[in-house]
Amino acid sequence: MIKYKDNHKEAANLRTYRADQMPLMAAMQGYLAEQVLPFHTPGHKAGKGAHASLQQYLGPDALAMDLAVVPGLNDLFDKQGPIRESQQLTASLYGADESYFLINGTTGGIYAMILATVGPGEKIIVPRNIHRSVMGALILSGAVPVFVRPEVDGGLQIAMNVPLESYELAIRQNPEAKAVLVINPTYYGATADIAAITALSHQHGLTVLVDEAHGPHFHFSQQLPIQGITAGADLVVQSTHKILGALSQASLLHCRRARINIPRLETMLQLVQSSSPNYILLASLEAAVTQMRESGELLVGRSLALSHTARSCINEIPGLYCFGAEKLGGPGVFGLDATKLVVNVRGLGIHGNDAEIWLRRFGKVQAELSDMNNVLFLVTLADDEASMHQLLQALTALSAEYTDGTGKTAEPLAALPDAATTLLLSPREAIFSRLERVSFSDSAGRICAETITSYPPGIPILFPGEQITPAAITYCQALQRQGFTILGPEDPTLNTVEVVA
Ligand SMILES: Cc1ncc(COP(=O)(O)O)c(C=O)c1O
Repeated sequence: MIKYKDNHKEAANLRTYRADQMPLMAAMQGYLAEQVLPFHTPGHKAGKGAHASLQQYLGPDALAMDLAVVPGLNDLFDKQGPIRESQQLTASLYGADESYFLINGTTGGIYAMILATVGPGEKIIVPRNIHRSVMGALILSGAVPVFVRPEVDGGLQIAMNVPLESYELAIRQNPEAKAVLVINPTYYGATADIAAITALSHQHGLTVLVDEAHGPHFHFSQQLPIQGITAGADLVVQSTHKILGALSQASLLHCRRARINIPRLETMLQLVQSSSPNYILLASLEAAVTQMRESGELLVGRSLALSHTARSCINEIPGLYCFGAEKLGGPGVFGLDATKLVVNVRGLGIHGNDAEIWLRRFGKVQAELSDMNNVLFLVTLADDEASMHQLLQALTALSAEYTDGTGKTAEPLAALPDAATTLLLSPREAIFSRLERVSFSDSAGRICAETITSYPPGIPILFPGEQITPAAITYCQALQRQGFTILGPEDPTLNTVEVVA
């Protein structure tokens, strides 16, 4: 009898995991230990048929873990089995009624939660600085967005979060709305008063959906803002891969049952996800959750301590400013995630994007993102004194390079166009209408079929379905003259725009 063991280590060489603690990992190990000859997917069969480059970088153990839906491992959507058990352990850690593993990132979770709660033509209240996955979900569902505006910090020129009063007004003006979406926190770490927004929304019969892509660590420290599930929200999606230890694309959806039709939610999860889940991604979710159960408070506490020290040091470096607690209670800042270091480089007279490039080239550090004025660094459970030291050294060198006045002063931001945009069609209706491409300068009055955004401040100027105003055209053109990048439209020069014919 042929035994399939030549391409991965004997199970005996590996630590084994307990089924009551890591049910999925235990089941995967159990299957590998059987050493049966695979006549099933994936075609590389434990790496034996994989290209040398994959063998070199992933190695035999990782390739052997790339398993398939075989009896005992179960399907992502099965009602029982190790994946389900692992999801239940996750739910109990986060205080949710149900948790679901996501293999298409938070994007997939946002699609599923909006599809499950808001139908075609129904209204959902959403911040205007939504991630594109929310717009994707609106296009898929046919829902009609009612936008609430985040506050903009004039000095930093970044969008913060949305004040409670704006949600209150939108709820009062749209009593028929089905759901409210809250971003907890924004990319730059600002949170809204999610507990009050949730209570208010529930009083008015609205379901509360939370984009917590950047907050999967909130549950593990009192010093961090409250997580959506604890605040009473109904559905919360977290990018476990962004901040915690899961692999890229691995996210979690948490649910409180009371207002959610669970079979419908599960149908929508199946609609937007693969029927061939990657078991390495799933195992990474289980591992990340186990890690947080075992030592989440310690790890998040350490990231916070490192961030606090780094923030103080950065604020001593000439020309740099890293905002912190002094912004609390200011416009759009109910709470802050201190592990996000947003370094404002305006004082050096250079753009954030140039600082990012310089830091990579000369300081050997790569930021998460930059905009015209700021560079964002994420401090996570992977960081330690040494990594923070390297970051501080790089920032000190950047400052020394530019404080002699060689940098040119960043231009002030053009005034935002009139906040009132008119939605004439739902994003879905706009996208599926007959479209034509016209000159952007001459497009006033037409219905936009694209999203047009600029950083800063990261708030889309036009969404599909909105009427293009003369003010929006003037604003975009002013930004372009100042060298800002316009994101979203198919024509990156924005000489032309796609509109409804
Ligand atoms: C606020 C926000 N929501 C959702 C997403 C989508 O998350 P994912 O990349 O896990 O699909 C992102 C990604 O950057 C994001 O920044």
